[in-house]
Amino acid sequence: MSTVITGASGHLGRLVVDQLLAAGTPSARIVATGRDVGTLTDLAQQGVTVRRADFADPTTLEDAFAGADAMLLVSTTTVGERFENARNAIDAAVRAGVSRIVYTSLVNASTARMTLADEHRRTEDYLRESGSAFVVLRNGWYLENYTDQLPMITQYHALLGSGQDGLVSAAGRSDLAAAAVAVLTQDGHLGATYELGGTPFTLTELAATISDVLGTPIAYRDMSVADYTATLTAAGLPPQMAAAVADADAGLARGELFTASEDLVKLIGRPATTAYEAFQHAVTVEQS
Ligand SMILES: NC(=O)c1ccc[n+]([C@@H]2O[C@H](COP(=O)([O-])OP(=O)(O)OC[C@H]3O[C@@H](n4cnc5c(N)ncnc54)[C@H](OP(=O)(O)O)[C@@H]3O)[C@@H](O)[C@H]2O)c1
Repeated sequence: MSTVITGASGHLGRLVVDQLLAAGTPSARIVATGRDVGTLTDLAQQGVTVRRADFADPTTLEDAFAGADAMLLVSTTTVGERFENARNAIDAAVRAGVSRIVYTSLVNASTARMTLADEHRRTEDYLRESGSAFVVLRNGWYLENYTDQLPMITQYHALLGSGQDGLVSAAGRSDLAAAAVAVLTQDGHLGATYELGGTPFTLTELAATISDVLGTPIAYRDMSVADYTATLTAAGLPPQMAAAVADADAGLARGELFTASEDLVKLIGRPATTAYEAFQHAVTVEQS
């Protein structure tokens, strides 16, 4: 029997496939799916089964999931269509006989009021009622959401946001992938909902961390949600995405991206990557 990893053409799904292979899962027991299988060619060359799966096109899904006993369902990027996408994938997985579905949700999805939480909450509810055995991985805000801003941070000597003094338990994608590998490869996780976060920090503390790494002062500049949305849009983010990111920062200010849970460290069996380490790595990559 095999394990399907959806979104394998994306950052998180790809890390999960790579870590499954590194942990010794035979490539023949991994099915990697994406909308464009051309992006998965190198995995096919390693013996991984590669199949097309577009959650917006249910006709592609049952064949894509056939023969699998477990599935990592990576939430899609299409905000506003994510619930329908996930519902199509869950229905197809159940029809295909997949017996365990692991879903990547968002930290505090059941209580957070930010817009992004809504489709995750609906998907979790649908999965729980699907009859399938499940695990919910409520992934924390990515550290990469901040390291990806490095060029802008160095250009303006500032980190921008609307998070006020809220704490964010951000975590690196690689650690979140390792948590997914743990629940896919170990017994004892079925029915669990894990809140996965790293060491919490405020955005003012993050700016100080970035200052330490760069050796130059970086300030945190807090803005209204409207101003932050406009700034992100002017920087090139699609308007809907800019609004969602700024709205998430308003949620951060309300504590919705904070968790005191130790679930991530317990699942991966080592300390989570810190913001300092993530920025050190990002600077090294930028300089290479
Ligand atoms: N916690 C956070 O801070 C945070 C931040 C950003 C995103 N997220 C969520 O976490 C997910 C994984 O993150 P990531 O960094 O791996 O994102 P990513 O690199 O953008 O990858 C997203 C994956 O979703 C796939 N996808 C999008 N629409 C799809 C559809 N209709 N049917 C099937 N697959 C579809 C993409 O496939 P294609 O290659 O075909 O586009 C891609 O493989 C995201 O999709 C998003 O839901 C979380």
